[in-house]
Amino acid sequence: MSMRPMRWTDIDVLVGLDVELFGADAWSAATWWAELRERPRRDYAVVPDGDDHPLAYAGLDLGGDVADIMTIGVSPRAQGQGLGGQLLRWMVERAVEDGAIALILEVRESNEAARTLYEHNGFERISVRRGYYQPGGEDALVLRRLLR
Ligand SMILES: CC(C)(COP(=O)(O)OP(=O)(O)OC[C@H]1O[C@@H](n2cnc3c(N)ncnc32)[C@H](O)[C@@H]1OP(=O)(O)O)[C@@H](O)C(=O)NCCC(=O)NCCS
Repeated sequence: MSMRPMRWTDIDVLVGLDVELFGADAWSAATWWAELRERPRRDYAVVPDGDDHPLAYAGLDLGGDVADIMTIGVSPRAQGQGLGGQLLRWMVERAVEDGAIALILEVRESNEAARTLYEHNGFERISVRRGYYQPGGEDALVLRRLLR
């Protein structure tokens, strides 16, 4: 499916999607505004639906040797159709273009869907951050894909 850069006017829809996908960890509108203000160091893209509203979205932090995945989400109504994989491959391409040697991210240990997505795209566990997600204290797995 087609992708386009994220826009300020997407923020209302993104806030709603984020709550559906991340619950208490969802980003507020203020966080989305702050993230988009950081472009071009940050880069965000969306897969739009028929009304040009975000159906899926992802973004990363660029500018260093190691690029960081900031977020990735696919609306529940569109999951399991390859959009997560498409956005992940876009982030890998962006990091390579930017000259990064690796792309890293944190994922909740219990997040089977995301862990499968990353593992099937060449990411490997490099460390564990104990009690990273608060409240609750769930561990974060730090995953990395080498780009060279
Ligand atoms: C993780 C997420 C982005 C995956 O998006 P998606 O569009 O459903 O993923 P895809 O259809 O591209 O599937 C990618 C791979 O993951 C696997 N996968 C997807 N959902 C899965 C699930 N619930 N359980 C196990 N594997 C799953 C697919 O089988 C596929 O494997 P393949 O590469 O062999 O084909 C989506 O589930 C999501 O938005 N989750 C909530 C937000 C989130 O957790 N984001 C990640 C934070 S680190």
